[in-house]
Amino acid sequence: MTALLNLEAYRRLAQRRLPRIVFDYIEGGADDESGIRRNREALDALLLDPARLTDVSARDLSATLAGARSAAPLVVAPMGLNGACRPDGDVMLARAAARAGIPFTLSTASNVALAEVARRAGGRLWFQLYVVQREHARALVKGALSAGYEALVLTTDVTVNGRRERDLRNGFAVPLRLTPRIVADAALHPAWTIRQCRHGLPTLPNVDGGVDGGADAGAQAALLQRRMDASFCWDDLAALRDMWPRKLYVKGILNARDAARCVALGADGVIVSNHGGRQLADLAAPISVLPEVVAAVGGAQTLVDSGFRNGRDVVKALALGARAVMLGRPLLYGLAARGETGVDEVLAMFVADIDRTLALLGCPDVVSLGQGRYIRNSL
Ligand SMILES: Cc1cc2nc3c(=O)[nH]c(=O)nc-3n(C[C@H](O)[C@H](O)[C@H](O)COP(=O)(O)O)c2cc1C
Repeated sequence: MTALLNLEAYRRLAQRRLPRIVFDYIEGGADDESGIRRNREALDALLLDPARLTDVSARDLSATLAGARSAAPLVVAPMGLNGACRPDGDVMLARAAARAGIPFTLSTASNVALAEVARRAGGRLWFQLYVVQREHARALVKGALSAGYEALVLTTDVTVNGRRERDLRNGFAVPLRLTPRIVADAALHPAWTIRQCRHGLPTLPNVDGGVDGGADAGAQAALLQRRMDASFCWDDLAALRDMWPRKLYVKGILNARDAARCVALGADGVIVSNHGGRQLADLAAPISVLPEVVAAVGGAQTLVDSGFRNGRDVVKALALGARAVMLGRPLLYGLAARGETGVDEVLAMFVADIDRTLALLGCPDVVSLGQGRYIRNSL
């Protein structure tokens, strides 16, 4: 197989391998997609600042995440419907994460049930919670606890579903509806179609009887339409904290005020994110608000995502005080392009890039990166 030299090559291959409706679901953003562009522009505007003549002959990329050592400052972001890229995509991503020595986050909207992923994948598992119904959410949290998930990630930026024009144009829905246009598109992607026919189209087992006491037709319909319980608020976060004894991260935070409140309620960390530009276009790029959040959370951990496409981007976030970066679409490009091997390759590319960047910056380890040098804000 030919070597793919950068993420853009995986992205293009993924685009060729997937029907348009699936690629657009992964790639698309909210509204006019300006949030996606802003995420990139903010990262590109930052420049690094090297320290010369330091000993970087041995470099250490490891970081402490959720109380345990991670081989690299990376986490697989929660993504719903990974099975649309490849059947069993959730397990493939989790296994690749385990091989890379980093945590994997399973979405509530996964296509493999949370207990099954724990049984089959191994490695360090985090569970991302969408609250569609409180009773159902409690059942999921209990299920994640007994299946051994080490951290819970509460996503807070999907009170309602963002408006994604690509999905509207393509007639995207879960479960996928077989319209004549989609059937014609599938015919142009026979490898994808054969795989999906063999396994059956993806379902949502975490809301479909996959969790004891959690099977509920109302919850399933709500998640299918990404219709969340929009009344979930700070008191509910406090109750969730009481229910979940392990590490708790709150995802979708974009300012110091909310970050400080999460930590005051007992969260172990926050994830600065605009959902990869998929929910509301006119939000700050997470990298631009990262320093204010880091300053607000004190000793708690700050993770960040949205728009990170190479190891230099990751190094910039760490230099601004993030503990780790969550990767979303890049891993789906790898998955769609080359299956589990593709995910291994993309993760390896990120790790090699972080390592090379550390050496070229004169920084021996990722912990030193967070000490406030190595970044030059060019704005
Ligand atoms: C296809 C797709 C599905 C996603 N599904 C979820 C989800 O179920 N839960 C969640 O918290 N975030 C979800 N996200 C957001 C990611 O966790 C993450 O915040 C985002 O992808 C990061 O941006 P990036 O894709 O530019 O790396 C999804 C993102 C994508 C691309």
